Amino acid sequence: MKDRLVIFDTTLRDGEQSPGASMTKEEKIRVARQLEKMRVDVIEAGFAAASPGDFDAIRAIAESIRESTVCSLARANEKDIQRAGEAIQPAAQKRIHTFIATSPIHMEKKLRMSPDQVVEQAVKAIGWARQYTDDVEFSAEDAGRSELDFLCRIFEEVIKAGATTINVPDTVGYNFPNQFAETLRQVIARVPNSDKVVWSVHCHNDLGLAVANSLSAVLAGARQVECTINGLGERAGNASLEEVVMAVRTRPDIFPVETRIDTTQIVPASKLVSQITGYPVQPNKAIVGANAFAHESGIHQDGVLKHRETYEIMRAEDVGWTQNKLVLGKHSGRNAFKSRLSELGIVLEGDEALNAAFARFKELADKKHEIFDEDLQALVSDETVTPAQEHYKLIYSQVCSETGEVPHSRVTLTVGGLERKAESDGSGPVDATFKAIEQMVQSGGELLLYSVNAITTGTDAQGEVTVRLSKGGRVVNGQGADTDIVVASAKAYLNALNKLHSCSGKVNPQGDV
Ligand code: KIV
Ligand code: ZN
Repeated sequence: MKDRLVIFDTTLRDGEQSPGASMTKEEKIRVARQLEKMRVDVIEAGFAAASPGDFDAIRAIAESIRESTVCSLARANEKDIQRAGEAIQPAAQKRIHTFIATSPIHMEKKLRMSPDQVVEQAVKAIGWARQYTDDVEFSAEDAGRSELDFLCRIFEEVIKAGATTINVPDTVGYNFPNQFAETLRQVIARVPNSDKVVWSVHCHNDLGLAVANSLSAVLAGARQVECTINGLGERAGNASLEEVVMAVRTRPDIFPVETRIDTTQIVPASKLVSQITGYPVQPNKAIVGANAFAHESGIHQDGVLKHRETYEIMRAEDVGWTQNKLVLGKHSGRNAFKSRLSELGIVLEGDEALNAAFARFKELADKKHEIFDEDLQALVSDETVTPAQEHYKLIYSQVCSETGEVPHSRVTLTVGGLERKAESDGSGPVDATFKAIEQMVQSGGELLLYSVNAITTGTDAQGEVTVRLSKGGRVVNGQGADTDIVVASAKAYLNALNKLHSCSGKVNPQGDV
């Protein structure tokens, strides 16, 4: 029997700390449902004290997730831990993850606390957290640059106080695999009560070593890895879930552990997170990149055709790559539509949302004869916007774009329910449309990113547009999909504006104690 490797996903917390990757509550719930379907053990749903929006999202996830443990991050102070405890309260299985920095530089310069004070605060934090749940994780922030003796001391104390998982983060991605493995080996050997807890690692990718460091820690005794879909995360990101999981699965001869992940859900999770955050996946990214299983050279193609394993160590279908599958057409009925959505794990709340999505499906099926799963995913993202969040709504758009002429756009919107019209020239049809929208909205937002992707193949494919806007320190992503890319662009722009209109500020968890 192999040991279980606990997969702790922090896409919704550390992943969301990537610049511009913020997600709405509805988007977080969709990601959490996909993580649950993938059989992730622990979902870190956010940092409850960061903002009321984060609190609400964690609570909503705690209400809807049944199979995975739902966790909130909390600094080692009573107020944060209370917020975390309240947010996860409805969960079937709940965890509080509390942390404090332990490296000399963080204790002295950031916390301005002595090592004794840090130990005392950490022990108190575990006591507060245990009032809400028996499942309490402690992280020594910047453990990768902390002194070994001090790590052993604080870990022994927090285990005595009731911590059940001890996490060793390489917060700034400074470690090397052999060195990090040695740290794990040493703490496990030297902390007298180390057998009472699960040892965990959380590695950042600043030197491109997050996965290598995590895996070497597993060989040294770690039994939980903290990771994110597509390696999303603060700065250069975290260890990528798909790479960790597939390494362990592909090399059972090396790893004495196994995960319970349903690997066929990896690619759908990757696509969902990329679509929601607007972070594209590089084509040559391991496991989930578009080229990860594409064999270009004749020699490789010939080899794979003769015997797949000549050049393939994993099967594309095992990680969820499928051919674009025709799933529905214009004659498909409401029941077929509903049951395909439920096979994809998409739940629309109430008949109204289902009817609206079905009407949009029929409209799309008129323009585009073959509807694929990817089309349904995009269509449903539009339907998860509730009317209350739709302060700005596109009613009509028309563009004139002729060779040698200046493109011109006319747009009609509702703004808070009232109809408005504007028109503008621009350097292209999208530019003209955005300018017309800005005339009405005057958001003053700065456009950080505009990107278009074809959702499926063919010239009748829907274009999926991501617009990233920033205003007053807030960064949001808007998405829109349509077979007409100017309409998709207008929808994405309005989606971003609606998010700016509704979201509130939040604090950075790693700022203070
Ligand atoms: O990188 C880090 O140290 C963290 C902790 C909060 C675990 O994200
Ligand atoms: Zn981190």
